Amino acid sequence: MTNLQRIELLEKERTLPRKEMRALLESHTAQDAEALFARARAVRARVYGKAVWLRGLIEFTSHCKNDCYYCGLRRGNARAERYRLDRTEILACCKNGYALGFRTFVLQGGEDPFFTDARLAEIVRNIRTIYPDCAITLSLGERSRASYQALFEAGADRYLLRHETANAAHYATLHPAALSFENRMRCLRDLREIGYQVGCGFMVGSPGQTIDCLLDDLAFLQAFRPEMVGIGPFLPHKDTPFAAEAPGPLEQTLFVLAVIRLLLPTVLLPATTALGTVHPMGREKGLLASANVVMPNLSPVLVRKKYMLYDNKICTGEEAAECRFCLQRRVESVGFHIETSRGDPA
Ligand code: 5AD
Ligand code: FES
Repeated sequence: MTNLQRIELLEKERTLPRKEMRALLESHTAQDAEALFARARAVRARVYGKAVWLRGLIEFTSHCKNDCYYCGLRRGNARAERYRLDRTEILACCKNGYALGFRTFVLQGGEDPFFTDARLAEIVRNIRTIYPDCAITLSLGERSRASYQALFEAGADRYLLRHETANAAHYATLHPAALSFENRMRCLRDLREIGYQVGCGFMVGSPGQTIDCLLDDLAFLQAFRPEMVGIGPFLPHKDTPFAAEAPGPLEQTLFVLAVIRLLLPTVLLPATTALGTVHPMGREKGLLASANVVMPNLSPVLVRKKYMLYDNKICTGEEAAECRFCLQRRVESVGFHIETSRGDPA
């Protein structure tokens, strides 16, 4: 089978035998990649037209009890500056975001025990009451089922929890023993059963990632069928154990993104900040590989440099409005347009 035949089959069947997927990932030309992006764009156009949805990202705590080897916010990084936004500050971000046309707020943070269920539920209830027309997305890492349930009942609609890798052995090389692949999967199952729209995802080119890991990731996505998938290149952070590792390749990230569109035609795929960091046009390239979500930063400028997951993260000096309109220009420059509705999956 040629790569073009594999791409055709993948589009038609929404799946590919592992052996063929392996061949496609392992070796393809720039022309193959262009053909794949064109098919992925066509599928995305069929489902979503030329719309790109906005999600306003509020990075509300840089404290984290975990020690993930790749992440600049890891507990072991004594040089990371820690901050927390309080309820009033978070609501001010939402107010600013609403005026800028955001109808989804993503509350993201490290795993910070200060934010108990009671504190978080109050914040979520407040946002739900003030903005009944907005989606509330949480991205707070691993919590108990009861906690996920309480936050859902408080008004949260969506939850982002990247699975990071669907290969248990690889998972154990990215995280210390206190974190387990089994618990990650338990969290994702709980979120789904409770009724959240669920996002998972992974870094492309993370240390130790093989083609087999990527094949496991794709198989997992096909089985789990998340509503959202966050894909970005791995980027090293200087104060982590992975400081000397190479960044994930842009081309492979875009390729995997487009494959995911063909596997899951209705999936919501962000053109991530990491893509924009690895290349100045990374997010535009992501849109052209069929991404249909952008997530401008709504965090107060004063804290942005303190939410450093990896080195050279972009958008850490800009105001929310600057990011919002910068992204609008970028989206329009590649022929798409911003949608200001909630943007639920088709
Ligand atoms: N490079 C790229 N992405 C990272 N993330 C964390 N650290 C890095 C890094 N060094 C991603 C993880 C996490 C999400 C919030 O950010 O996938 O789930
Ligand atoms: Fe906190 Fe990874 S160390 S998100």
